[in-house]
Amino acid sequence: MKFLSQKDMIAAGVTDMERCIDAMDEAFTLAGKGDHLMAGPPQNSHGQRIWPPKEPKFEGMPKGGPDQRFMSLPGYLGGRFKVCGNKWYGSNVNNPKNHGLPRSILTMTLNDAETARPLAIMECNVLSGMRTGAVVGLSARYLAREDSETLGVIAAGPISKHCTTAIVKALPSLKKVVVFDINDEAAKRFCDEMSAKLDIDVSMVSKFEDAVKDQDVVTSAISGDHTPLFENKWLKEGSLLTLPGRANVEDDFLRDAYIVPDCWEMQKTYKIEGLMLPEDERAIPHIQLHNMVDSGEIKESDINDLGKLAAGIASIDKNGPRKRYFISNGMILQDIAWGMTMYENAVEKGLGQDLIMWDQPYMV
Ligand SMILES: NC(=O)c1ccc[n+]([C@@H]2O[C@H](COP(=O)([O-])OP(=O)(O)OC[C@H]3O[C@@H](n4cnc5c(N)ncnc54)[C@H](O)[C@@H]3O)[C@@H](O)[C@H]2O)c1
Repeated sequence: MKFLSQKDMIAAGVTDMERCIDAMDEAFTLAGKGDHLMAGPPQNSHGQRIWPPKEPKFEGMPKGGPDQRFMSLPGYLGGRFKVCGNKWYGSNVNNPKNHGLPRSILTMTLNDAETARPLAIMECNVLSGMRTGAVVGLSARYLAREDSETLGVIAAGPISKHCTTAIVKALPSLKKVVVFDINDEAAKRFCDEMSAKLDIDVSMVSKFEDAVKDQDVVTSAISGDHTPLFENKWLKEGSLLTLPGRANVEDDFLRDAYIVPDCWEMQKTYKIEGLMLPEDERAIPHIQLHNMVDSGEIKESDINDLGKLAAGIASIDKNGPRKRYFISNGMILQDIAWGMTMYENAVEKGLGQDLIMWDQPYMV
């Protein structure tokens, strides 16, 4: 099998955002048609997570807290990919401050879907950030008004940088980006990096609502323990709120907006799995939306996955006044699509190291 370091991944083209958005389009079109598998008996679990206890009883055991976790995401993607993959990562929100490391550290394995033979192990930090941003870019391709000119960004971390790059690539009509972060230094770095990289005006604002009010597109990728509220009155008619991270929104917004998740069945499985946790440790993404669906306030048939839009099975009035809400918690099919593309590029360009597990299997 191949081992691909971060350097190899970059040489293979992992940072090419336009191609990554197209790969996500292909993957979500397959998902819309149902040609993929995820974890667990319902085949749509996001993955399996280690939930570290808040007060570990043993020295060295990981300690629970916001954005503290280990997680494995297995799956299969069909179409021209026809490959299985597993992304394995750990997240420690104190990593940048205490260890000079990224918050999350990720690797990915790809396996032949028939024989299970491992094809590659790859460094996955850049890949994962790229695919997260690219899906947000894909949401802009299908959900944002074609005359969108302004983008408001909440949080200036790596995920927001990838999302901003992708939205700017997906929406050629954009003219201005504003960013808000509770950490001014992070916001300044964001402006410097994004203005140098993208041919667009990028500036920082000092108040959260200034990055939300009257923006055509708003995205947010915060981490940590404070989740801001996006007031419905701040969100402009016809605007898109596209979220790879946590956020609070108002009931009125959910009643009025087009609701487009990455995968509603996965969101339902999150809820089933979340209810197994002790009450004080429950973290069920989008529980407010689930409650409104359960009470009949929102019809489940009105919720359409992004894949359904990509596959042409569902559509929205793209240039109409109704607000749009995209929620993404991440799916392994995204990593498989971009990971397989990188593996193929690496083979073609002769990149990476060959790892040998055996000459002959010890037993058959
Ligand atoms: N949907 C997906 O597929 C996916 C994939 C990867 C990461 N994520 C999520 O994206 C989020 C961000 O990831 P990251 O690696 O960029 O994290 P990070 O910790 O490196 O950066 C987060 C930034 O958010 C800022 N922030 C925190 N609270 C804020 C607030 N209330 N208002 C404004 N700014 C605030 C911090 O100062 C920091 O600059 C995480 O929560 C992660 O779970 C989602």
